[in-house]
This record gives sequence, structure tokens and C-alpha cells, in this order.
Amino acid sequence: MQSNGYQSGFSNEFASEAIPGVLPTGQNSPQRVAHGLYAEQLSGTAFTAPRHTNRRSWLYRIRPAAMHRPFEALVHGSFHNRFDEAPATPNQLRWDPWPMPAKPTDFVDGLVTLAGNGSAAEQSGCGIHLYAANRSMEGRFFYDADGELLIVPQSGRLRLATELGVLDIKPLEIAVMPRGIRFRVELLDKEARGYVAENFGGMLRLPDLGPIGANSMALPRDFLTPHAAYEDVEGDFELIAKFQGNLWSARMDHSPLDVVAWHGNYAPYKYDLTHFNTVGSISVDHPDPSIFTVLTSPSDTHGTANVDFVIFPPRWLVAEHTFRPPYFHRNIASEFMGLIEGVYDAKAGGFAPGGASLHNCMSGHGPDAASFEKASAADVSKPDHLTGTMAFMFETRKVIRPTKQALEAPQLQRDYYQCWQGIAKHFDPASA
Ligand SMILES: [Fe+2]
Repeated sequence: MQSNGYQSGFSNEFASEAIPGVLPTGQNSPQRVAHGLYAEQLSGTAFTAPRHTNRRSWLYRIRPAAMHRPFEALVHGSFHNRFDEAPATPNQLRWDPWPMPAKPTDFVDGLVTLAGNGSAAEQSGCGIHLYAANRSMEGRFFYDADGELLIVPQSGRLRLATELGVLDIKPLEIAVMPRGIRFRVELLDKEARGYVAENFGGMLRLPDLGPIGANSMALPRDFLTPHAAYEDVEGDFELIAKFQGNLWSARMDHSPLDVVAWHGNYAPYKYDLTHFNTVGSISVDHPDPSIFTVLTSPSDTHGTANVDFVIFPPRWLVAEHTFRPPYFHRNIASEFMGLIEGVYDAKAGGFAPGGASLHNCMSGHGPDAASFEKASAADVSKPDHLTGTMAFMFETRKVIRPTKQALEAPQLQRDYYQCWQGIAKHFDPASA
């Protein structure tokens, strides 16, 4: 199964055939599909969802997805949705990068849940996971019925072989795997590590642009969806399902990646973060970080996200009379951050690529003492060029609850609070 390029656009009505002439014309499910294939609909939204949000695809496949043995419970030590194991803490938290695995570990084995909120049952909230793997998934496939997966590689390239085709992603690219799509993760390098947001809520979409206009930020045509590619392979395979927070395993006698053609608008996609058209201030102050939103999962409160995916890419800082790094702030939303490469401009050290931080609802945070002093003395009559950096944030309206394993991990920096303790008192009522 080979990737043969991509289709461009965000949730367009795509159509792709690995064998020309398979897609029926004038109907979706004819009595007989070409080449003896089966027609199957995969719905990602309610049948009756408004047309502009309705997402479904028709798959033309060698065997229906129903053909597998019964699922049995599968124990996974570190990948789960138990967000109530420990009291949610108002403390600022930061973690060092997780180590690469010592034993042979594939993508599913290597998932570790760091935090989350809401639940799959409520169809609200998100799980926040890390992955670290050193081998491809062999003879096994995975799907997540609980949420769509936003995969953010930090190290190592991945090949996502999916029912609808192949997506290759590398650090500084992301992929979104919709709920239910079956896939296999292959490593294209020796090791791979990154972050995953498991979105239980409304499907990720591009944010509205308001007064910004029709362009800027993430452009729809930069989102790439695979062409159809199929495997006609028989053997002993494992299908792993994530269902209501738990993993389940079923045997099947063929590869589930047997879709020869498909059409619709429910499909995996990838995006190159370096294509993000960054918007910022050209006068004074900087806007709120919502201007860096790549994708948003809306909640049922207009303008308030279930989860946003926000990036802090390379950019020019030109605002004058302005404290240029992120300001000190407290936020009703909760902020989980990761770093893909380089240095984040609000921290002098301690936030490493592959690491993470969590600042929960109303917990004060911002630049550390060293970054504050440096930026306060900077010459802001000249532009700064931030290069070689890519931080990101999963921001969500609900408090992000760290898991027990995250709070007990040796990677947790127990002295993180110290980065603000050296902030000097400058107050002098007699000074200007
Ligand atoms: Fe923040």
C-alpha cells in the first residue's frame, strides 16, 4: 500500500479510487458494486446534523467492517481516560520529556495518558496523551470510538496507514484521525515520540476569522487528505478498539485496510504547521493567543471551545512600547502546552522539546523571572525574529485533570514554581 499524493482542502467532498471506475454514479449503494466490493457508510455526525456540519463517507471495500471475532477486554497499563484518580490541582505543573522506550514498543503500547477532562460517555472534553515508540504496529490495527485523535509528532516520522489511505507525517506536521477510522502506525525512523489530543467533543474544524477576513491563519487548501489505497491481505490480525475509556481486542482474518474507493467528507487529514499564516500586532501590545488557533472543537456555548489546538510558530515581533513575550495572566480556560522544537519565548529554561506544562483554570502563570527581566530591558524599537521554535497548546474550557501516573512520574518538575520566585519587587511610589 503506497501513498500516492494527497487531496487538498478541509472537509471537502472528496472522491478517490485505487481502481478506476469503482465509485458508483448516481447513487451510493447499488445492488452490485464494481469488482464485487461491499458498500458501507461511515458516519461521523448524526444523520440529521445540519448540512454544513454533516460528515460521512461511503467506503467500497473488500469485506464489511463487521467481519471480525468478538472483542475481549485488553489491559493497557498507561493509556486510559481515568481523570478522577487524583484531585485536580491548581498548582502550575511542568514535565521533562518522557524517555524513549527501552523494550520493543509500538504506537498503541507506547501511549501514556497525562491528563484529561470530560468523558467519552458525555461526548465532551478531551484526553491528553504522549506516545513514545520504537517499532511499527505489526499485524495490529487500532480505532478510537471515543474521540478523534489529533497527533502531534515531536520526534520521528510516522506513516499512518488508514482505511481511507496513507498519511505520512513528520515533526512540524499534525494529523487528525476521525473517530472510528481503523489505522496502523508505522515508524519511518528508529524512534518516534509526540503528543495526542483525544477529542471527545465536536469535531475539530477551522476557527471563524471574523474581522480578520477570508484569509490568514490556517488555510483550508493546506489540509491534505489521502487517496484511496487498499490491502488485500489475509492472515491473523488484531483489531484494537478504544471504547468508553477501555481497550478491546478482536482477532480478524484479513487486513481492515481494504477500502478500494471512497467518497465523502469524513476522512483523516494532515497539516504542515509551517504553512500557518501567523497574524500579530504591528502597533502596540499583542492580541490574545486565540489568533494562533489552528483548529477548534466547539462546545455548545458559542465562542467557547471544548478544545483548541493553538501553535506558537516562528514569527516577527514588532510591537513597540510592548512587553513582547506572553504577558502574565490567569485564564478561565485551562492550558496544556507542549514543545516540538526550539525554545518557548516566555521561559529561559526547563521547558524542553517533548516536555509539557499545565496551567489550570485561574492559576497564575507567565514569563519566568529571567525572561521578564530580559524582555523588560529589550530594545523594542527594533523587531525581534523568533526562529526555530514551535510550541503548541491544547486549551480547553474544562479544568484539565492530571492522571495519577503523571503526578507521580519522575518527569514531573517538583521545583517548577521556583521559576517565578525570583521575580523582583520594583514598586516605588516615588518613581516614574
Ligand atoms: Fe497561558
